[in-house]
Parts: sequence; C-alpha cells; structure tokens
Amino acid sequence: MDWGMKNRLAHIFQPASGNTVMLAADHGYFLGAVSRLEHVGDTITPLIPYADALMITRGAIRTSIDPLNAKPIVLRVSGGNSIAGEDLSNEKITTSIKDAVRLNVSAIALSIYVGAKYEHQTLLGLSELVNQGQEYGIPVLAVTAVGKELEKRDARFLSLSCRIAAELGAHFVKTYYCENFEKVINTCPVPVVIAGGPKLKTDVDALKLAHDAIGLGAKGVDMGRNIWQSKYPVPMIKAIKSIVHEKASVKDAEELFNEEKCKVDKACESN
Ligand code: R5P
Repeated sequence: MDWGMKNRLAHIFQPASGNTVMLAADHGYFLGAVSRLEHVGDTITPLIPYADALMITRGAIRTSIDPLNAKPIVLRVSGGNSIAGEDLSNEKITTSIKDAVRLNVSAIALSIYVGAKYEHQTLLGLSELVNQGQEYGIPVLAVTAVGKELEKRDARFLSLSCRIAAELGAHFVKTYYCENFEKVINTCPVPVVIAGGPKLKTDVDALKLAHDAIGLGAKGVDMGRNIWQSKYPVPMIKAIKSIVHEKASVKDAEELFNEEKCKVDKACESN
C-alpha cells in the first residue's frame, strides 16, 4: 500500500488500538434535516474532540464545520436519491475526486446496494471510486446500504455485500451489526466498522451493540443517531470510545456514561 494511503488510514484507525470512532453526520444527503441534525454544526461541534473522524458531506463541511477545529474527514461522495423518491438504491458518485483532495479528506465513501434495483450502478460506482482513490492515495469506504429494508440486515446478506465491496477494492467497509456477525467479519478481508442504525431504545443498548461488534472483530464504529440523538451525546461518545479503544466492558462503559451524565446535569453533586 502506498505511503499516502497508509498515512490517511492511520488518521482514521488510531495506531494505538487499531480501531476508530467515526462520527456519522452525513444523513442529510438523502434524509434532509434529520432530528438533531437540523443545524449540523451545533450538534457535531461539541462531539468533535472525542471523534477520530467525521463522516459528512461536502455541503455540511463547508457550511458547518470549522476547518481549524476539524478531525480527519471521511467524505460522503455518493447520492442523487432521497427518502421521498422512488428507489433509494438509485445512487451515483456526486463529488469529484478533485473536490475531495481540495477538502483534504482522509477517505471517500459511497453506498452500495447489493440485491437492489440499481445494484449494478452502485457497484460500478464503487469500482470507479476505487480507481480514482488509488490514483490519489485516498482510501475508499463502502457502505453496505439496505435502503428502507432494514430487515435485510442479516449475516448472509451483509457478508455478501461486504465481501463484494472488498473484492471491488474498498479499503474498509461499513455495515450493520447482526446475529452471527462473526460470519461477516470472517469473510471480509478488509476492516469492518459498524453503523449504529436508527436510535435504539436505550443508550445502554447502543453501548452493548458497539461492545458486541468490537468483541467479534469490528475495527470500530461509524455511529450517528445513537450518539447525537441521545439526550447525552458527549457522555455517549465518551462511553463508546472507551469500548472501541480501551475494550471497556458494557458495565464499565455504562459507569463512565453515568459519571459523564452527572457532569452534564450537575445532578449528582450532592451524592
Ligand atoms: C446513512 O445515512 C449514513 O451512511 C450513516 O453514516 C450511517 O447510517 C451511520 O449512521 P447511524 O449510526 O445513524 O446509522
């Protein structure tokens, strides 16, 4: 692997643990103003110090993130679809590699829709992006999207999607945690990070998700809603970080989360 590619990956996957906490805030590219991302900068800025990388679009970076106070960027470069449209899989590359270089990004990301109507188009998009990334030394993240069909998130489907992404040259893959997740990990030759998905019932459920995924070999999280839709986003990202980088147990991470919550609420001072 070329020096530039290795160096960029080391900005994302922290050399000390080999893992990463990516903060995902690219949802607006097809979902519009998601709850708590109405003003991306207001929500994301307090979390930036605790993230290893930000997954975001070029529009959100330029309007909402201070270039003097950012973190390595994983730039979402696919889109062209919307939640109101006919088929979410109808995505193409939206952003030129030159603009990615201009933004000094550490990786570029696009979704692939295996088994969907526009599978072919998205897989060729990934191949094209890998060709461009190789030329400039920029790693490519493939996101194994399922569109509205969340029930597709099983080990058989996700293993298929991740493996195809890796075979087409993706340098790392984002997928979902699922039952028999080890099958996904064991059949994917490049690092896998997990998305959080829609907000889970409790914050502890999200800690458990991250813990189980890391325990089975995920190299980190690329988590959004379960962090910034929590009532306690900073305590949440700190607790997730302890799991990802320090292999904290769910109990220890929950304790840290509660301690940090107290600091926010100042409610535990008399205890
Ligand atoms: C989809 O909108 C994006 O790829 C997100 O970056 C991804 O789903 C991770 O965010 P969340 O943890 O909210 O699912």
